[in-house]
Amino acid sequence: MGLVYNRKDSSEETGKNIVFNLELAQKHVLITGANGQLGSELQRAAAFHPANLFFHFTDVNELDITNPTAVDEFIKSQGIAYIVNCAAYTAVDKAEDDEKKCYLINRDAVKNLAESAAKHKAKVIHVSTDYVFDGTGTRPYREIDAVNPQSVYGKSKCEAEVLLREICPDSIVIRTAWLYSIFGNNFVKTMIRLGQEKETLSVVSDQKGTPTNAADLADAILKIINYTEASGDFKAGIYHYTNEGVTTWYDFTLAIHELKGITTCKVSPVTSAEYPTRAARPKYSVLDKTKIKEIFGIKIPDWKVSLEKVLEEL
Ligand SMILES: NC(=O)c1ccc[n+]([C@@H]2O[C@H](COP(=O)([O-])OP(=O)(O)OC[C@H]3O[C@@H](n4cnc5c(N)ncnc54)[C@H](OP(=O)(O)O)[C@@H]3O)[C@@H](O)[C@H]2O)c1
Repeated sequence: MGLVYNRKDSSEETGKNIVFNLELAQKHVLITGANGQLGSELQRAAAFHPANLFFHFTDVNELDITNPTAVDEFIKSQGIAYIVNCAAYTAVDKAEDDEKKCYLINRDAVKNLAESAAKHKAKVIHVSTDYVFDGTGTRPYREIDAVNPQSVYGKSKCEAEVLLREICPDSIVIRTAWLYSIFGNNFVKTMIRLGQEKETLSVVSDQKGTPTNAADLADAILKIINYTEASGDFKAGIYHYTNEGVTTWYDFTLAIHELKGITTCKVSPVTSAEYPTRAARPKYSVLDKTKIKEIFGIKIPDWKVSLEKVLEEL
């Protein structure tokens, strides 16, 4: 993907020798990791966005966020007002054996963004994860709850949150979980494929959380930018966003198969102990979304309603 700009409209009133270039009135928004699930959904959502924002969609080929010079040059030269960081190392199990790369992308590169943002007065919206929690909780996690990541991926994301907020206080961290989309590889697509290929399937039933349609999160991020533009008030801090409701990977799979009409595969529940993975997963990672709903007036769809919508496209 090349660099994509949208709404580069301009109009001229030549009679009075006034040139009005809409681009000048637009705030420039940098989206990193734009080819990933969330970045791709932001590309879709941005196409329907009012013209006051000018988006720069970049992935590693256009802007490698591990390169501090490139990051600084981009933010400065394009006059970036908002950075939405969707870039990440998301291979959770692989990260256990690939620590260096995981920290480079998930922590050190966030530091690069934070330093340039602070220098050039850009606001940062950074996406983090439920894996910052250890999963021993028994009620939905609030933003102020103590973190205790149990995996390399979780630790790298957790350290990034701290660095970002220290270096660039004008930043928002949105922790999300169980992300899926029509774009990229994810649990929903895998379960559809396996359901069509196999007669039996075992899925973990003792981890509770909430799936998140990346399109809903993309909308929420644009709403936060709109709110800031309308109010002139950037509400920095940590927020939680997933879809509403609670499920397990097992029940999530049953819902995917039911909605997709897959009837030839018998799905059986297994415990995490029966299905060990390289990285530890939180047993309970339901996030409390009260703060993001109250502050920005964001309405969050139920996970099953959103799943149904996405499955219509898959
Ligand atoms: N997926 C989940 O279930 C989940 C759950 C909780 C939180 N999150 C968080 O949500 C955010 C979005 O996740 P996602 O699922 O959309 O991720 P994703 O699909 O893996 O997309 C990440 C994108 O970042 C790109 N990238 C990697 N290194 C880069 C670099 N050095 N510079 C620029 N771009 C780079 C990736 O390119 P390559 O593919 O070429 O590496 C990919 O296009 C991430 O912060 C993630 O940690 C995800």
